[in-house]
Amino acid sequence: MGRTIAISNHKGGVGKTTTVVNLAAGLAKMGRKVLVVDLDPQANLTFSFGVSKVEESIYDALKGNIETVPTISVRENLYLVPSSLDLAGAEMELNSEAGREFILKEILDPVKDNYDYVLIDCPPSLGLLTINAFTAADEVVIPIQAHFLAIKGLTKILEVINKVRRRLNPDVQISGVIITLYDKRKILHRDIEETIKTYFKDKVYNTKIRENISLAEAPAQGADIFSYSSNSKGAQDYYNLTLEFLSRHEPDFEFDFEK
Ligand SMILES: Nc1ncnc2c1ncn2[C@@H]1O[C@H](COP(=O)(O)OP(=O)(O)OP(=O)(O)O)[C@@H](O)[C@H]1O
Ligand SMILES: [Mg+2]
Repeated sequence: MGRTIAISNHKGGVGKTTTVVNLAAGLAKMGRKVLVVDLDPQANLTFSFGVSKVEESIYDALKGNIETVPTISVRENLYLVPSSLDLAGAEMELNSEAGREFILKEILDPVKDNYDYVLIDCPPSLGLLTINAFTAADEVVIPIQAHFLAIKGLTKILEVINKVRRRLNPDVQISGVIITLYDKRKILHRDIEETIKTYFKDKVYNTKIRENISLAEAPAQGADIFSYSSNSKGAQDYYNLTLEFLSRHEPDFEFDFEK
């Protein structure tokens, strides 16, 4: 059974795409078969895997121009459904379609069980594309930047997830919160961590993703952090995140996290 997870936060630049790239790469290295879906017209996920020319994208599938979901093999065990700029018009174009919130679910349902995990990289908004992701997903994971305004505005995404649960997908729930761009030398960051934990309790991953320049450099090379700089803090953090993700999703997976 493929588990579908939307990585979402309507705030921009919080590490959604970086988390999808490197968590997916980590899971693939651990032998899990992973599909990543680029649902953002910015196509940062697509570029991060070194894919620049795209013949068919998620846009064509959402529009019904093609029958099957376009999938590119990007690593061993790792497959990408690419995005393209056309997707920017999709929200408007799909607005008048019957069942417009279910289009992504309809596309992914026939293929999801070919994978262990399907990770959807959401755009920084709560529009129709993100609602399609929440409708298709079993879970939502929210990356939160360790920043004093991080919590501000989060009620909005919680409201949208609650509405999707009531009206469209009764099973969807927030399964995790990942603190990103963390620097433990900054006292403020530790306060913010406490606030996030008060709010989301054990949904907050123990693994925090620290600020690390290699994580920002890798995408330009079309590389994930493990191939770009395997000894970096970024690689350490995303390796730990992968292990913690597996321990949270697979009951037989044993992992003692060292704080
Ligand atoms: N831990 C980190 N350390 C340093 N730089 C990071 C880290 N995580 C992400 N970045 C950089 O910060 C920027 C924003 O990250 P990313 O694109 O992953 O965020 P996003 O939430 O997907 O953004 P958007 O909302 O635009 O889709 C990128 O340039 C990325 O390379
Ligand atoms: Mg992104």
